[in-house]
This record gives sequence, structure tokens and C-alpha cells, in this order.
Amino acid sequence: MSEPGERHLPVMLAEVIEALAPVPGGVYVDGTFGAGGYARAILAAGASVIAIDRDPAAIAAGAALVAEGGDRLTLVEGRFSDLADIAAAHGHERVDGVVLDVGVSSMQLDDPARGFSFRFDGPLDMRMGNEGPSAADVVNGLEPRDLARVIAVLGEEKRARAVAMAIARAREAGPIEGTAALAAIVARAVGHRPTDKIHPATRTFQALRIFVNRELDELATALAASERALATGGRLVVVAFHSLEDRIVKRFLTERSEIRPHGSRHRPEAAAPVPSFELLTRGALVPGEAEVETNPRARSARLRAARRTAAPALPFDPIALSVPEFPAFDLGRVS
Ligand SMILES: C[S@@+](CC[C@H](N)C(=O)[O-])C[C@H]1O[C@@H](n2cnc3c(N)ncnc32)[C@H](O)[C@@H]1O
Repeated sequence: MSEPGERHLPVMLAEVIEALAPVPGGVYVDGTFGAGGYARAILAAGASVIAIDRDPAAIAAGAALVAEGGDRLTLVEGRFSDLADIAAAHGHERVDGVVLDVGVSSMQLDDPARGFSFRFDGPLDMRMGNEGPSAADVVNGLEPRDLARVIAVLGEEKRARAVAMAIARAREAGPIEGTAALAAIVARAVGHRPTDKIHPATRTFQALRIFVNRELDELATALAASERALATGGRLVVVAFHSLEDRIVKRFLTERSEIRPHGSRHRPEAAAPVPSFELLTRGALVPGEAEVETNPRARSARLRAARRTAAPALPFDPIALSVPEFPAFDLGRVS
């Protein structure tokens, strides 16, 4: 297992801190503590941080930083979709900034026991926290039709049906328990062209990880929670790593910052909602070449930022944000 803090390089740190603009005495939520790269920089600006991570290992490894940060760092094991309640429970109904660096950390990816990667063999787990079904539960328990949809939608895998059928056939002989076994089944179903830049199992592993951790629901709910928790002038900064996540952030911020002509001569009361955010970034910021060279994991990062206006929070509609819906999944296994 890698040492927390040594291996995870915070992505677009300078750009995140510039967009968040922490001020001494301000209170900021870091919804994805990880190895604490962002939290450390916010503390260095003289501000307080309520840092959240759903991974107990990240929280345990953060104890040293809590000791350093004194009473300015509060570390909470939890989900960032609950960030407004978590901040309120720690005495802050309103905060000056929220930062989210969504996805997995290097510590999680590089630990074979967590089952996120097909680079090593490990148990098919993929849960960032301890709760809910694991990837093995999903792979061995989901109906092939639903599995195909998960892989198609969340992995953007064109051969999702072939992958789901191959998994269904393989599990007839016994449950698929390891990352290497799954990667081999997927690779055979997808096939590999010499021109392909990524391993044929990459998209399926991405889909399972997003599904297991409900990552898109978490993100959409966290954006709405940030809208409620941010004080007027407070800043929201989000770093996303693939198009499904970035699309949700983009839609949310576009919708919240637009003034749309809703009202009419006959229904003046249905006037357009006042925007609850002002965009701080036009389009998404991407990392510079030098950062991508030293940290290849930064290459797909997209940063968007916005400032909260004084307008009330708007109703939350995950479907308008194109968060895909899937049937509830329980722990029953097929084979
Ligand atoms: C990319 S890392 C963050 C790295 C961090 N910015 C740093 O500088 O070290 C993402 C972290 O967010 C956590 N995470 C992902 N989804 C989460 C959620 N819904 N709620 C809370 N934590 C989450 C993961 O467990 C992981 O530790």
C-alpha cells in the first residue's frame, strides 16, 4: 500500500486555490480530503477547513494534519452529498467556499486490496467507503440487461452487451471474485486492437466504480448542497475527471448562472429565477503541460468555478442534470 501524502499529487492545486481564493478566518469545505493536498493549502492561507472523505483510510491518515492544523481543521468521515448538514453540524450554516476533487485518489488506485485497478490482481471491491454492495456483488448479481446498461452508460463502452453476456456466462461456473479474472473476461469480449491507447477493460472498470459508489448522484446532490451552504460571495470549485462528471457540473452551473425568460405578459409572477451563481470560469480550465508531464493522472482534469450570489437556492432536479437512473440493486447474487 502506498503512503498517503507521498503518492497523491493534488491536481491543479494552484488553479484550485486561485479560484477558491481562501481568506484568513474564512471557513471552507473540502469535500474530498484524500491526502489533504487542497486542505493543507487552504489552512496555509489562514482559513479553517471542514474536510470530508468517505474513505476511513483517508480520515485515519489525516490525523497528523489535524494535529498540525489545530482547531482550524475538522476531519469528518462522510459523503460530500451531505456537506451542508455536516458543515451545519459543526456550527457553520454558511461557508465561504466548497471544493470537490471528484474521483479516486492514488492511494485507492494503487492499493490492490481496494480492487480499483486491473494493473494488479485483487478482490473486486471498488468501494471508497465501507458501505453498500461491492463490485463483486454487482458483477455477480446484476441481471445481464442491467449490467449491460451500467457498462454502456457509465463506461461509454460500445461493446457493453458483449461484455455483460461474457460476464453472465463466466459466472455460471462460479462467482467472479478478482480484478484479474474480470479484466481477462472483459478483454476477451471487447477484443484489443494494436491502435487502442487504453486497456480493453478500462471502460468497464470505470463503469463499475461509478456505479458502486453512486458517484454521479453524489456529485449532483453535492452541487445542490453547496448552493444551500455557500454564503453570498462564497465560491464553488469542482475538478472532474471524465465527461460524465464534467457534464453534470457544466449543466448545473450553466443553469444556475443563466437568466432565462420564463415570465410572460399574462403570468408576470413566473418571472425568471434570479441566478444563484456567477461563473468564474468560461468553459473548463485544464492542467498545463508541465503538470501533465509530472502527474499523468492530471491529464483529464477539468476545473469549473463559480461565485454564489445572494439569490435563494433553486429546486434540485437530478434528471435535468443528466444523472442516469438505475434500478435499485440489492445484495442478492444470481449464481
Ligand atoms: C482525487 S481524491 C482527492 C485528493 C485531494 N484533493 C488531495 O489533494 O489529496 C478524491 C477523494 O475523494 C473521496 N471521495 C470520493 N467521492 C466521495 C464522496 N461522495 N464523499 C466523500 N468523499 C468522496 C475519495 O475517497 C478520495 O479520497
